[in-house]
Amino acid sequence: KYAYFHNSMKNSFTAPGKIILFGEHAVVYGKPAIAIPVSGMRASAWSEPGEGKLTINALDLNQKIGLENKTSQFSVLAQTLLSKTKQSEPNLTINLTSKLPQGSGMGSSAATSTAVCKALSNYLGVDLEKNQISELVFDAEKIVHGTPSGIDNTVVAYESPVYFVKGQEPVTFDSGRTFYLVIGDTGIESSTKETVGNVRDLLDKDPNLMNGYFDEIENVTEGGKKAIEDGDKEAVGELMNKNHELLNKIGVGHRELEKLVDVSLDAGALGAKLTGGGGGGNMVALAGSAKEQKEICEKITEAGYRAYQTTFGED
Ligand code: PMV
Repeated sequence: KYAYFHNSMKNSFTAPGKIILFGEHAVVYGKPAIAIPVSGMRASAWSEPGEGKLTINALDLNQKIGLENKTSQFSVLAQTLLSKTKQSEPNLTINLTSKLPQGSGMGSSAATSTAVCKALSNYLGVDLEKNQISELVFDAEKIVHGTPSGIDNTVVAYESPVYFVKGQEPVTFDSGRTFYLVIGDTGIESSTKETVGNVRDLLDKDPNLMNGYFDEIENVTEGGKKAIEDGDKEAVGELMNKNHELLNKIGVGHRELEKLVDVSLDAGALGAKLTGGGGGGNMVALAGSAKEQKEICEKITEAGYRAYQTTFGED
């Protein structure tokens, strides 16, 4: 199942962040979702000789994690990879750093796990396919997220826009044009595990209502895929607004997210929505052009929030 090759320690291995454009939360219940990589913001991992055992040196957290730590996504990932490839613990330190804010819906945990997975598999001389990386990271994600749908590890491992349905082969797809996005950060760290749990509670209380919302989100996501493929930016924007409304209805909104959406729409965005788990974290807005993207970004910054620009697709 695994291919082997000669290894090197010199390289740095990276993985992108991601944002979800359509379908978050509903994806946990079998509905489709669309996510894109954020290639400009990445996690990086590189190896050096160890101090007698395998250590993941999470530089941003100032934390050294060994295999004995059973609650860390990195040790779970390393242990699984070692078991699957029947190798013993290497004497290796894997340094890890990330430009992705944590708990913000930008896929920081999937990106860091993926970077570590690439660095360790390279050291072990194992050539992993994208789907194998995605699977290993998925198992590690369960530690942080509880019941992740698998969309984060998929988009990060494939580094391409994906249309994702839980339990099915991910579909990567092309867009009919370049889309200009602005990501605005509420600065409020939010736990996806918690917001997913809250949605689950609401679903238990009122399944008819919640399933109705999930069906509506599904329609929005299907429309979103078509609009992206057609390069119809106005339609994509409208559907983002619709998706945002529905996310508010399922209870994962936040007043800071509303502020960011309002600032973006006032600045001329074609659409804006929360992205990822919600309850804080990030908002994504669609701009009509690179110029408008810059303006929206500036308005968000002036309002006192951090903003990032990213694009996907090609003309
Ligand atoms: O908060 P994020 O970006 O990790 O996104 C979570 C997306 C959810 O649909 C809310 C959960 C999931 O596992 O898909």
